[in-house]
Amino acid sequence: MVSITGDMSPLHPDRNLALELVRATEAASIRAVPFIGRGDKLAADAAAVDAMRAFFTTVNFDGVIVIGEGEKDEAPMLFNGEKVGNGRGPQCDVAVDPIDGTSLTAAGRQNALSVIAVSDRGTMLDASSVFYMDKLVTGPAGVGVVDIRLPIGENIRLLSKALGKPIDEMVVSVLNRPRHEQLIADIRAAGAGTRLMSDGDVAGGINAARHNARTDMCVGVGGSPEGIVTACAIKALGGHIQGRLWPRDDVEKQKGADAGLKTDGYVYEADELVTGDNTIFVATGVTDGQLVAGVRREGDFIYSESVVLRGRSGTLRRITSEHLTSKWL
Ligand code: FBP
Repeated sequence: MVSITGDMSPLHPDRNLALELVRATEAASIRAVPFIGRGDKLAADAAAVDAMRAFFTTVNFDGVIVIGEGEKDEAPMLFNGEKVGNGRGPQCDVAVDPIDGTSLTAAGRQNALSVIAVSDRGTMLDASSVFYMDKLVTGPAGVGVVDIRLPIGENIRLLSKALGKPIDEMVVSVLNRPRHEQLIADIRAAGAGTRLMSDGDVAGGINAARHNARTDMCVGVGGSPEGIVTACAIKALGGHIQGRLWPRDDVEKQKGADAGLKTDGYVYEADELVTGDNTIFVATGVTDGQLVAGVRREGDFIYSESVVLRGRSGTLRRITSEHLTSKWL
């Protein structure tokens, strides 16, 4: 099997698939521009999906979507199992989220991203049959220190010690949902502050794991696909991620079990969410956020900002681009 990055000898720098993939997230973000703040999340998502799919055909790789926009019958494009790329080059698993934060996009709120994550074929956990996953994400200081099985207060204390940071300066991000009422109360009772997110826990997880981040930890129940995508990025950041599937009812629990998933509270470690460190994560801002600026149109130009993270090299690159509006919209 050809690996994503090929020969890693320093004398033979690999051909960087990541830089090709960023064109697809740029395209998805640009096509979403007319829908930002216009109240129609489905239209925004459809435009981003179309654009991403079109760009995939030009990328030199042999990808299979492990985590896409749903099952084949429900999603005409980028469905689970769909082949993407031109069929030549490295064989990869692919996770796509043409817009993580469709509601944020429709409302014009911060932190929506267009995302693609890629790993070697057969290494990505297909968690899509269970909608939600409970997650714990931190930067490198949390590795071997925090554990999702511990009470949140204990994890905050352990991480604050590892970071050498007083507890009252610690900030924990969590999706603002009724299911997190107790979690939010426990974070505050432990002495830390919360950063409540209305949506978009991919950006939330990455922001918590980044060097010099303004948040220290991202916790709580969000989408399972988002968990796998986040894991691909965390590999490059050297951070901590654990995930525990969170079936909504017995039917979903059984569906997950039938798909070979562990749905009984089993904790998936980073290497079980995505095996190995040969991952690529690319994201372009749809709306402004801490991680990247949102795509913006100013007359004849459209400006975009993207990040590219490679697990094997541990590099985070930023790519800013100027696009001619006349070529796009
Ligand atoms: P969408 O862009 O698909 O709407 O996802 C946004 C999101 O906030 C994710 O970032 C998060 O993982 C998930 O939805 C949480 O789900 P829910 O809104 O059902 O709590």
